[in-house]
Amino acid sequence: MSSFLTFVLPVLICQYLMGVLVQLKGTFLHRVALLPVLLWFVWRASITIDPSGGDPNQAQLNAVFIGQMCSFAMRGFVWATAQEPYRRADESISHESSQADREGKDSVGIAAALWNTWDLLVNLRGIGWNWSRGFSIPTPFFKTRSRVAFVMLSAVRLALHVLAYDATIQAIRAFSPEEFASTTGGSIFDPSLSLALQVLRCITISFLTVWMAYFAMEWGYQLQSIIFVTLFQQHPSQWPPLFNSPWLSTSLSDLWGRRWHQMLRHVLLTLGGRPFAYLFGRLGGVIGVFVISGLFHDGELRSVGRGGNSLVVIGFFTMNGVGIVLERVWKKMYGKSVGGIWGWVWTFSWLALWGVPMVDEWAKAGRFSAASLPGDFEPSLALLSFVQRYLQ
Ligand SMILES: *[C@@H]1O[C@H](CO)[C@@H](O)[C@H](O)[C@H]1NC(C)=O
Repeated sequence: MSSFLTFVLPVLICQYLMGVLVQLKGTFLHRVALLPVLLWFVWRASITIDPSGGDPNQAQLNAVFIGQMCSFAMRGFVWATAQEPYRRADESISHESSQADREGKDSVGIAAALWNTWDLLVNLRGIGWNWSRGFSIPTPFFKTRSRVAFVMLSAVRLALHVLAYDATIQAIRAFSPEEFASTTGGSIFDPSLSLALQVLRCITISFLTVWMAYFAMEWGYQLQSIIFVTLFQQHPSQWPPLFNSPWLSTSLSDLWGRRWHQMLRHVLLTLGGRPFAYLFGRLGGVIGVFVISGLFHDGELRSVGRGGNSLVVIGFFTMNGVGIVLERVWKKMYGKSVGGIWGWVWTFSWLALWGVPMVDEWAKAGRFSAASLPGDFEPSLALLSFVQRYLQ
């Protein structure tokens, strides 16, 4: 608790202050001055705090913590360098800013900015803000304006995704319980198998790993949406779906630009896309986005504390950028976008080609063994034993 106060609280205060400033006009210099302070606090917290308490079983917590710290640092940078003030665009939700609009002001009052900042902190896609241009936000399957209905729906989704998440982890562990269920970890490659079986094994584990990541992000998002719609009285429309059926992607651009979650889009475009585009042209910008994404994910993996080959992780993301460049070249050459069934085959073959080595790094770093849910809760195993008992 005391380490939270001394190390994490300063980060939150700086981040909050930055969030207030980015909504006010003429604060560029203040923000630029605050940035190094924020980055230093982030760095200090990242190297001192060990949420796992040295317990390898809890190492997943470190990935969550470092991911959050990196996210603060990146957003701090984006907010500090923003040229135009951020404004809530959703008038029905932000009462104060609509009032400011009526009075013809182009900057919000301090009180409104103070209130809006906590939304800015959790709203990674800028839903209801005027900096969310270019985002493709999925439309909900069940549209509801009722908070009660939304929360109940989210609770069902939360339960299902927690269950599915746990089930995929248990399935992965079943491939090699001695390695994947213990904190030593192990490779997904098994040289004792024939080549065909080995490939099948790697592809299956990687396939499950992608689902695991998908379910994990989904349940985290459902949980947040329940908290914010109940405690902070947000509107259900502020929590649209996180993913847009990524399994239907018919090109890499479709996957990364539209269907996969877009929570990192704004920071990656600002930190990677813009500078790389400036230096190397438009296609360079595409690569830049993915290089920064690779650095982020590498930091997350290494924070688990058992190494990991940075080249493989950063390589996976960079090659996805390269894949998108290839799609652009294809379009230029043949005048037709990548898509359709062959686009789907291309997308998932390219992902598997570069993704399998990355999943191997995850496996070797013991990411499948760490307690995945709080309190060592294993709902899918509990359900299984319940069903077994019932059948006997
Ligand atoms: C958001 O809206 C404000 C007020 O209309 C405007 O001054 C600002 O430039 C906009 N910011 C962005 C990032 O578009």
